Amino acid sequence: MCGIVGYIGKRNALPVLMDGLKRLEYRGYDSAGISLVQKKRIKTWRAVGRVSELEKKINIEEMGNVGIAHTRWATHGEPSEKNAHPHSDCGKNISLVHNGIIENYAELKKLLSKKGHRFSSETDTEVVVHLIEELAKKKTFMEALTEAVRLLEGTYGLAIITSKEPGKLYCARKGSPLILGVGTDEFIVASDASAIVSHTKKIVYLEDGEIAEISPDGFNIFNAKNHKTAKQIFEVNLTDEQVKKQGFPHFMLKEIFQQPDAVRNALRGRVEKFLSEDGGPIPGGLLCVEKRLKKIRRIVIVACGTSYYAGLAGKYLLEEFSGLPTEVESASEFRYRKNTIDEHTAVLAISQSGETADTLEAIREAKLKGALTLGIVNTVGSTIARETDAGIYCHAGPEIGVASTKAFSSQLSILVLLTLTLGRQRRLSFSESKALATELQKIPEKIEAILRDKNTIKKLAKKYAHFSDWLYLGRKYSFPIALEGALKIKEISYVHAEGYAAGEMKHGPIALIDEKFPSFFIAPTDSVYEKTMSGMQEVKARKGKILAVATAGNKKIKDLVDDVVYIPAAPEAFSSFLSATVTHLFAYYVGTAKGYDVDRPRNLAKSVTVE
Ligand code: M6R
Repeated sequence: MCGIVGYIGKRNALPVLMDGLKRLEYRGYDSAGISLVQKKRIKTWRAVGRVSELEKKINIEEMGNVGIAHTRWATHGEPSEKNAHPHSDCGKNISLVHNGIIENYAELKKLLSKKGHRFSSETDTEVVVHLIEELAKKKTFMEALTEAVRLLEGTYGLAIITSKEPGKLYCARKGSPLILGVGTDEFIVASDASAIVSHTKKIVYLEDGEIAEISPDGFNIFNAKNHKTAKQIFEVNLTDEQVKKQGFPHFMLKEIFQQPDAVRNALRGRVEKFLSEDGGPIPGGLLCVEKRLKKIRRIVIVACGTSYYAGLAGKYLLEEFSGLPTEVESASEFRYRKNTIDEHTAVLAISQSGETADTLEAIREAKLKGALTLGIVNTVGSTIARETDAGIYCHAGPEIGVASTKAFSSQLSILVLLTLTLGRQRRLSFSESKALATELQKIPEKIEAILRDKNTIKKLAKKYAHFSDWLYLGRKYSFPIALEGALKIKEISYVHAEGYAAGEMKHGPIALIDEKFPSFFIAPTDSVYEKTMSGMQEVKARKGKILAVATAGNKKIKDLVDDVVYIPAAPEAFSSFLSATVTHLFAYYVGTAKGYDVDRPRNLAKSVTVE
């Protein structure tokens, strides 16, 4: 959510900032802007829409060795040029970009207005730059910045330049991610590593409350108590190639095609433990809490969006195979509700980005209550990964498409591994866990078979693209996939879709069914198949069209449904991997059939770092 990039060094900043913005555009794409320090003055360009609109406005020969840039996902104030970042103070000496929400902005704005500051936008961000300007009247810039952030309530990732100190770049973080790339004679600040990796792999993670003062010769980082802190430099394992489309028309399609590898990478070096009696240790990231894991009596999964639906699939797995009572809760609800978690509860955060504000805050709340906090996170070094007691990385590689796809397959894989780990500590026998692990290893090939048959799904997507409403239905392990399928088609194709437990349909949603309202049934051959069939009969009786996902070999289903997509046979607990890929491809092809930019769906942003 909102991309930030800042540069200071010996090169011209503009190409670095522009390239960084393009790579960060998936975080927000309402408007964009750049400020450069030029001959002790600041020059700013802003544009509504994509980064390409901004690019048209700037002469590529504009020079400056220090600059900041931003791509916005609007919170306060509509997407417009005046609301685009960077924002400036009255004297046009300070320029600032921000990610997050300043909760006390109205109060600060009133105060600053009384002191004569004139505001030109509707944003919460603009108060920060005026606040620094006000405080800098009597203090050094660093002192003013330190004081200003102390007065802010809410969340921020900030990058700031000032014409008074043209050889410096400042940044500060609380609640919104910010990292510093350390190059040779140059530094790049960004809200995520994808804007940095083509320049350097050396990264410093800023923690909440920290402020960085950066010059071309080095950087100093001060903690919330204003003490200079020594920071570790990490090496990121992310290549430039990984953040490119590599011949695919969209990141979303590339990432759907990476699902088999996402599962393989999640299992690599971990699944072996369950294949032989003297197999390896439990997943490395959980070793430090192995004893504590044995004592937990309950799991609460907290997550948002697609990660939440993965969590729901995890509940079915964990309860069936480990016997541990498991609840799944939207992270945004968990935090503000009286809950009963204690030291015998493990609170498990699932997050692709590792930066989702609601999930992060839920974990912080759980920690305060003494729970063991665990993470299933894709982005290495992200805040959730760093703040949980232990966890398992997905290793799915960067996910750029705003719609989450390969991360989902990866999260499901890790949830199976976690289930087997906890199950073996409890009631699951070696032979049972071995049988599951063996089947799990076959999943990537089965997803590949679905991908080879992509044209079947593409044709169906074209056939059904004109419908504006859908019910997605499934039972048991297919219920979370119904929810995930409905979310995906909503996000990508702007089609109204509702995911329901198939058994719930007759309790209300059936009222919607007619020939113009189709149903997408997830109906693999499993223990609830007959029940799912009854639901289909009910839809048919009301002239509703049915598109179904069924297990290969089930010819009989054709008598009932209008169209069917077959998936390879798999154990009931794992069919979700396969039907998820079908729903992802279907949403992708409906979205592209309608001519939408599926990588940047309207109103959305990757990594939701505001509450
Ligand atoms: O990074 P996270 O997994 O924490 O993100 C959670 C949701 O914001 C995310 O899954 C969102 O719902 C996606 N747009 C789904 O495609």
